[in-house]
Order: sequence, then C-alpha cells, then structure tokens
Amino acid sequence: MISKDKLAKLLPQALDETNLPLSNRQSGKVRDWYDLPNGQRLIVTTDRLSAFDIVLARVPFKGQVLNQLSSWWFAQTQDIIPNHIVSLPDPNASVVCVAEPILVEVIVRGYITGVTATALWYRYSLGERDIYGYQFPEGLQKNALLPEPIITPTTKGGTTGHDERLTCTEVVEKGLLDAKTWDRVQAAALSVFKRGQELARKAGLILVDTKYEFGIAADGSLVLIDEVHTPDSSRFWKADSYEARFSVGEDPENFDKEFVRIAYADEGYRGDGEIPEMPAELWTSASERYITIYELLTGEAFVPGAYPIEPRLIENLKEAGVI
Ligand SMILES: Nc1ncnc2c1ncn2[C@@H]1O[C@H](COP(=O)(O)OP(=O)(O)OP(=O)(O)O)[C@@H](O)[C@H]1O
Ligand SMILES: [Mg+2]
Repeated sequence: MISKDKLAKLLPQALDETNLPLSNRQSGKVRDWYDLPNGQRLIVTTDRLSAFDIVLARVPFKGQVLNQLSSWWFAQTQDIIPNHIVSLPDPNASVVCVAEPILVEVIVRGYITGVTATALWYRYSLGERDIYGYQFPEGLQKNALLPEPIITPTTKGGTTGHDERLTCTEVVEKGLLDAKTWDRVQAAALSVFKRGQELARKAGLILVDTKYEFGIAADGSLVLIDEVHTPDSSRFWKADSYEARFSVGEDPENFDKEFVRIAYADEGYRGDGEIPEMPAELWTSASERYITIYELLTGEAFVPGAYPIEPRLIENLKEAGVI
C-alpha cells in the first residue's frame, strides 16, 4: 500500500481534466471522453470524486482504480453479456465501442437501505409500502436482506433533471424501451448482479446494490457500458460484521464512497448551500479505500501508475496507436 505521506504529496497532481490532442472532448462528472476517427471512443477516467451530484475533490489513483476495476468486472461478466471494452491503452483509459445508451438507469438492490430520495429505505421509512411497484411487508428493518434482488429503474437524468423513479412496467408504458429489450436488460442485470454478489462474497464483501447502464451497439446488440461494480456505482459492506451489527440495529461497515457523504453530513452538508472545506486527510483516506477495494475484489496487487498522469497517458496512447 502506498503511504499516506506519498498520497498527500500526490493530492495536487491528481488528474482533474485532460486536454488530449484529439478534437472533441466531452465530460461527465468523472470521465472525459473523445470520439476517435475509427468510430470508437476513448474514455479517460479522471481522479474527480463526485457526490451529491457535485465534483468535490480529486483523489489520487481513483481514476485508475475505477478504470481497471470496471475492466476486471467486464471480463468476469462477459459470458453473461457483451460489453463495450475494446482495450485499455493506459491505466486510466479505455477504448470502447460507442453504443446508443438506453434511457433507463438499471439499479439492482439486494438490501433495503439508503437515505437519498430514490433509496428504498428512505421511501419505506416515510411509510410507503408500494415502492417502485413492489409491495413491502410491515416491520422491515433498515439494511435487511431482500428475499431476492429487485430492479428499481430510474430515468437517466441527463444534464438537466434529477433521476426520476420508475416501475418496471412504466419503462415500457412510457415508451423508454420495447418490452422485449427491457426483458433482456432485466435478465442480464440480475445475472450480472448475482455474479457480482458471488465474487464480492469471496472478497469478504457484500455487493448491496448497484447501477448499470446498457446500450445498443451499432449491430443492434445489447451491451453493458459505462462502469461495473465500482465503489462509485455500487454499495459494498463488509460481510463478516454485517450480521452482528444488523442484529443490534447498527449500520454495516461500508466499503464504498458512502463515508465521504457521511463526512459531509457530519459538517451539516447534504447537497445544498455552501460546500464545507474538508481536510486533506479525508481525500488520502478515500484514495486508500479505493485502492483497498480494488485489491480485495480482484485479488491482485494494485500497481500505481506514474504521476503526473497526462504526459504518461499521451505516451501510452501514442504507443498504442490511439493518437
Ligand atoms: N460505450 C458507451 N457508449 C456511449 N456512452 C457511454 C458509453 N460508456 C459510457 N457512456 C456514457 O459516458 C458518460 C460517462 O461519464 P461520467 O461517468 O463522468 O458521467 P456522469 O457525470 O456520471 O453522468 P451519468 O449520470 O450520465 O453517468 C455517461 O453519460 C455514460 O452514459
Ligand atoms: Mg457515470
């Protein structure tokens, strides 16, 4: 593991944005991407950390972890569904096939938890018992295992709105997807989630819930795109302490980026008003956490790429013939 001191020194060098010698950069909260002349896309995962829909900080090695961990999961699930990965020319970059993203974010949940507006536990705690079209019994406890994983779709918020909750029937009724494609999406999502739970369990973790994005490739086939089972797109809990904590009503030990949200909430920030300044220690801890989760899940040692990232990235892209 890289020392805290080293991580602290790297904080100012964490990758904020890229300016590659390609013409058409686009950016999301975490990724920059460029359309390549051959019709493929170069996605660079930066070190930006977002929560509450805001970029809060840059965390050394976060981009590398997300890129390499997603790639690992794509490989572990390609027998279930094809994915967008073509190659990884750099620890922070993937060349992918461009797909037409479907307009639904496919969230799969194995437990009832969460305190944001779209979370199951939050809705349940408001007294709702019909949530996302599913009936929930009385007397459930926060963080309880559901009888089986369920899909709780939302609309893809895009640049304007927030994600809107949908039921599985509404996906088709609202014309977001035809029934046949939606059936295939649901089946694939549940199988990938099951594989994720099995592999996470071997790593001593519980895959609690996650978000998938699917797209339609140029040949019309359904593909898994974006990222898979990363600490950004998923909740992970420590498996060995879950039961004991659950039985006394304590929250599980989380192993994702939830602790960043909690640190902000402790300062009174939940997404509105002035953003509090956080100590560098929070971001070096975040870095350690991302690296640890990579190593736990993949069972491989994390090999840190050189900083600063951009010159290295350009070198690697040239070598791979991408630029
Ligand atoms: N193979 C692909 N083809 C087309 N679009 C893709 C592909 N893979 C990922 N994307 C899109 O690229 C973007 C990745 O950027 P990033 O993760 O930074 O976005 P974001 O700010 O999280 O926004 P979003 O909420 O849409 O994910 C997402 O909008 C995702 O839908
Ligand atoms: Mg995203």
